[in-house]
Amino acid sequence: MDPLLRWRGEFPILGHTTYMISHSLGAMPRRAAERAREFTDTWAERGVRAWEEGWWEMPVTVGNLIASIIGAGEGEVIMQQNVSIGQAIVTSCFNWSGRRNKLVTDGLNFPSNDYVYHGLERQGARVVSVPSPDGMTMPTESVLEAIDEETQLVSVSHVAFRSSYVQDLAAIAERAHAVGAMAIADLYQSAGTVPVDVRAWNLDFAIGGSVKWLCGGPGAGYLYVRRDLWPRLEPAFTGWMAHEQPFAFAGGPIRYTGDAYRFLNGTPNVPALYTARSGYEIVNAIGVAAIREKSLRQTARLMELADEAGIRVNTARDAAHRGGVVVLDVADGYDVMRELGRREILVDYRPQAGIRVAPHFYTSDQELEQTVGEIRAIVEERAAVR
Ligand SMILES: Cc1ncc(COP(=O)(O)O)c(C=O)c1O
Repeated sequence: MDPLLRWRGEFPILGHTTYMISHSLGAMPRRAAERAREFTDTWAERGVRAWEEGWWEMPVTVGNLIASIIGAGEGEVIMQQNVSIGQAIVTSCFNWSGRRNKLVTDGLNFPSNDYVYHGLERQGARVVSVPSPDGMTMPTESVLEAIDEETQLVSVSHVAFRSSYVQDLAAIAERAHAVGAMAIADLYQSAGTVPVDVRAWNLDFAIGGSVKWLCGGPGAGYLYVRRDLWPRLEPAFTGWMAHEQPFAFAGGPIRYTGDAYRFLNGTPNVPALYTARSGYEIVNAIGVAAIREKSLRQTARLMELADEAGIRVNTARDAAHRGGVVVLDVADGYDVMRELGRREILVDYRPQAGIRVAPHFYTSDQELEQTVGEIRAIVEERAAVR
């Protein structure tokens, strides 16, 4: 008996849908609805007093629930609306007009990150994107080779969104530091399913969001910044919450506060922070080690089933490089994905990769068989009518 299946009852959608899409939108915990109600009740009953009764601190108190998942300390993670904003904050800490103006990004990085980086070119940044040899993997050596004395920031995805390929963040951060650069990792596709230890890996920054494996819903991104860097970093993308005395409402240039609030800007997305908490609490209660153990077992099983069905797998076979998703490459993958949806099996499709299938801690083994079985059946049905 799989002990993690007892969590299924906490997720209403699992009662009627085979939910293999937690790499895109994790299932909503039942308790999130109560949290949304708690927000509106607080707003209704406490009014403006809610700010001093918890709302003001929420970017940090909620961030603490992420900190324990990614290996950060209390007060070291702050909530932002999304990864794109977090990237803009981090990159606004640097001067891109000098000789050290290179930003090394990996070719599997999420496009939004690249868009923010290329926007820095007008400030003098040189964006160097390390190509993936096959669109799926990223040899660590290639990233290390691109990092040199002119590099200011190295940005990689811990787990690639397209192929679920896992990168060696410790090695990349080490190389960045050896040449005087800093390293940022996008944890969106790892936190909550693959163990993360930002402090052990010596990352300078880490960033992510809650929509996927953390089952926290939209509007709750997060940013970790290594504590000893705080005094040296002054984000140009800022706002009054980052001021040492926000309620002095002083004009002129900002005087940054000493704690992690210096990486905040304007009013936080309070309702999203209420609803996001339930997912983090469940992930913390189970523990990522147990989630990963089950994920490795179930992704291996999915690949086995795909092999038996003659379906091509576009995911790393070795566990060290495999995240929580298995990518299955079939003819007309987009149409097959749509048909699966009509049959109440939710997955998604990415061009140049295939159908992304993701078990999570709430997935039963029977659902793996059902998913691959239906993919095979749909492919055969389509071939028969050609
Ligand atoms: C690795 C990764 N980074 C970032 C994002 C999204 O970023 P944002 O929070 O800016 O929407 C995604 C998801 O869609 C992702 O998979």
